[in-house]
Formats: sequence, structure tokens, C-alpha cells
Amino acid sequence: MIHPADLRRMLTHSFRKGIRGSHAGGDSPQAEIMKRAHPDYLKYQDDLIAEIASLKKERNAVILAHNYQRDEIQEIADICGDSLGLSRQAAATEADVIVFCGVHFMAETAAILSPQKTVLLPVEEAGCPMADMIDLPRLLELKAGRPDAAVVTYVNSSAEIKAESDICCTSANAVNVVNSIDASKIIFTPDRNLALYVARFTDKEIIPYDGFCPTHHLISAAAVKRARAERPDAKLVVHPECLPDVIDLADHVCSTSGMYKYAAESDAEEFIIGTEMGILYRLRKENPEKRFHPATRHILCPNMKMTTLDWLAQSLRYMRFKVEVPEEIRRKAKKAVDRMLEVA
Ligand code: 13P
Ligand code: SF4
Repeated sequence: MIHPADLRRMLTHSFRKGIRGSHAGGDSPQAEIMKRAHPDYLKYQDDLIAEIASLKKERNAVILAHNYQRDEIQEIADICGDSLGLSRQAAATEADVIVFCGVHFMAETAAILSPQKTVLLPVEEAGCPMADMIDLPRLLELKAGRPDAAVVTYVNSSAEIKAESDICCTSANAVNVVNSIDASKIIFTPDRNLALYVARFTDKEIIPYDGFCPTHHLISAAAVKRARAERPDAKLVVHPECLPDVIDLADHVCSTSGMYKYAAESDAEEFIIGTEMGILYRLRKENPEKRFHPATRHILCPNMKMTTLDWLAQSLRYMRFKVEVPEEIRRKAKKAVDRMLEVA
């Protein structure tokens, strides 16, 4: 008899794909093992799905999921989106409980906007390495060195950093945010690549902080060139967290939700996608006649992939893990987030 902990570990996206028969060439090796080891695994999963639906009703909860989440989490969520879209949903929801299937800064942003609601992050450890690259002493030092500059902070940051910023931005509105503010010098934190991308569209002096996304750094210009050579008719769409030499090669640069819009509206039939692979699930589902290829193999954000149906069910069952922000920090951070929401 397989141990329940192993069962949970194995009930992953690729495994499930195998069970359901959509895996090319039949069931995946994991699915085969699982079938022999535990004949009830499909029932187990269906029970989880039913439990999540029933707890969601009982708790008056809404499930928000980022576009990089596992397929089954996107499937069960009430709303999927990019950071900007999900921030708006978190601010507008009438639910009492927001279960944020994403990483810590996303749930924290929901808690900043909706302090009267209970915000849950199903996996406590799901963080964002880029957000962790800046801390308060470093930001204060940077501000002290450039007292004439305004601070624009990517939402991929902690509440503490947002609280010390003039305004926040996401990948969807960074250019508009920078151009909207009344300062000619901008300290842009924490993403260096997004900062350099924005600098292409403004006359303001951009002072980038040195953070980056390890997942987007897996996408090299050499790999992208190879992908383009293999599929010369495909459009290359990349996220602005990519390295500048990757961005130089792209046909279109946008946020994750921008990619759904671009794919739906474009006449092209084939696309090379330069961002985390979770996005491929709905791109393919919503555009069955088009073809989508990752720019390179294994563009995965390990933190985004931590959330499984088990963790989601446990989150609603035990009302964990609550994300709260100390009131003084929350109020200051909210100003920076609200300013962003006013701009775009
Ligand atoms: P989006 O806001 O474009 O969804 O990006 C969030 C993120 O973490 C990208 O790595
Ligand atoms: Fe952070 Fe990169 Fe993961 Fe987005 S993909 S959450 S920026 S580590």
C-alpha cells in the first residue's frame, strides 16, 4: 500500500495528464506506477475537487490563480490572471476569504488591498526569489543616495518595500506608471530587466536595482534563436522579465495576460512563448487551432508549482496559511498600490 504522502507527491500535473490519457503515447510512467500501486487515485483526486467546491461555498471563498499555476489549479480557480488583473479582483471581491494560488507577494498584495478579508496562501513556502532579492536596508541606502529620484516598485516585492515606494507597477502597466509620475529620475526595484525594458519607452533616467527572475533567466538568446530557426513562421512573444537580448528578438513583449490577448487576436498560427510554461495550458485550450511552443525546455517557476489540489483543499479545510500585514506597513504599501491602480 502506498503511503498517502507519496500519493500526494505523485498527484502532479504531468502524472494526471497521463491518467487522463492526454499524454502523448498513452499513460506516463508515473501514472502506470500509480495505477498499480493505488487503484483509488482517481477517486482520491475527484474527492479533493468535490471537497474544495463544498468548502469554498461554506467559507464564502473565492479562488484566485496566477497564470503560471498547475493546469488543475487553473481549472478549479474562479479567476485566473496576471498580477494586475488579480490585484483588481482581490480589491473588488465580495467573498469573505481569498485563497490565492500563486506566490507570497501576490497574496500579500491582496491582504494590503482587503484587510477585512481573510487571505490564504495554500503553501506557506511559495515565495518569489526576485522579491527576496531586495530588503529594506538596501532600498533605504539607494533612496538616500538618490534623494531626487522617485521609487517605482514592481509588485513582485514585499509589503515593506512597497511601503517605502512612491508607486507600484506590474509587467502590464510598468511603462504607463513610470511615464505617469512627476519625477525625471526613477529608482526602479527590484527587477533589472523590467527596468531596462521600461527605459526603452521613457525619457526619464531609470536607476535599476539588480534583482532578476531566475526562471526567466533560463531563457537565453541562443535558445530563442534556435527556436526561431526551427519555426520561422512563429511569432515570438516574451515576458519583460526576460534578458534584454531575448527581448530584442521578440515580436511582442507583454504580461502573461497580455499573451492570451495577443494569441487570440493575432493572425499567426504558431507562437514561441518566452515565459513560465504554466501559461501554455490555457493558451492551447483557448486557441485549439493554433500551436504554442515554449522558447526553451523546462521554463518552470518551482514556487508557482508548489500549489497542488491537496494543498488547496487543506488551505480551505484548516483556513491556512493566513497572510497578514502589520497595519502601519499595510497603510503605506496600500498608497503605492492604489496609485498604480489609478494609473492603469
Ligand atoms: P505577470 O504579472 O505578467 O503575470 O507576471 C508575474 C510574474 O511573476 C512573472 O514572473
Ligand atoms: Fe518570481 Fe520569477 Fe516565479 Fe514570477 S516566475 S514568481 S518573478 S520567480
